[in-house]
Amino acid sequence: MSQVFVSQHPLVLHKLTALRDASTDHRGFRDLVRELALLLCYEAMQDLTLAPKTVITPMGTAQGYKAEEAIGLVPILRAGLGLVDGVMELLPNVQVWHIGLYRDEKTLRPVEYYNRLPTEPTVQICLVLDPMLATGGSAVATVDILKRWGVRRIKFLGLIAAPEGVERLTTAHPDVPIHVAAIDERLNDIGFIIPGLGDAGDRQFGT
Ligand code: PRP
Repeated sequence: MSQVFVSQHPLVLHKLTALRDASTDHRGFRDLVRELALLLCYEAMQDLTLAPKTVITPMGTAQGYKAEEAIGLVPILRAGLGLVDGVMELLPNVQVWHIGLYRDEKTLRPVEYYNRLPTEPTVQICLVLDPMLATGGSAVATVDILKRWGVRRIKFLGLIAAPEGVERLTTAHPDVPIHVAAIDERLNDIGFIIPGLGDAGDRQFGT
């Protein structure tokens, strides 16, 4: 069973509530997505491997640390794009590898339309970014792609999950920890998370 981390941080809970609010406009929505991504990334990176590093301060020598693992962000287009900037404020030197998937409205199955990963993996850890984990189909398909690419350590970072999506991702990929701000009640019959926040892509991009 994967580890599932649901943030309890007061700032996350406060911002998530504003994000859900149907009266939040597109600009406010994008700002909140960016801020939540930063906060959740902080929590998700707790096990980052460090190497020792010595620095010279104005007063002498200090023993410190340096993060040395190569990290790849994998936003699932389109809605995952909004999470990239917040994460990059904390991790400015990461690689970003976009994966294009859309969910077929009838079958709810993910359809791949963009993948420009090179042949050999160039990172040690991938952070899959998507605000919504609904049926889990998109997340499972993305982790499948990354494992085939050769990446061994993968984490999922999202905003809201449905229990169905958590179950599907943990069953398919029990080694992938899930970091979210909330797990909601359920999916409705057209695959939307209830109560959720609506369509995360449409609300970010005004479509
Ligand atoms: C949404 C969301 C996820 C997917 C979640 O994207 O951003 O990628 O659906 O659903 P799943 O867990 O059932 O696969 P959508 O297909 O609406 O595309 P978009 O991001 O381009 O709007």
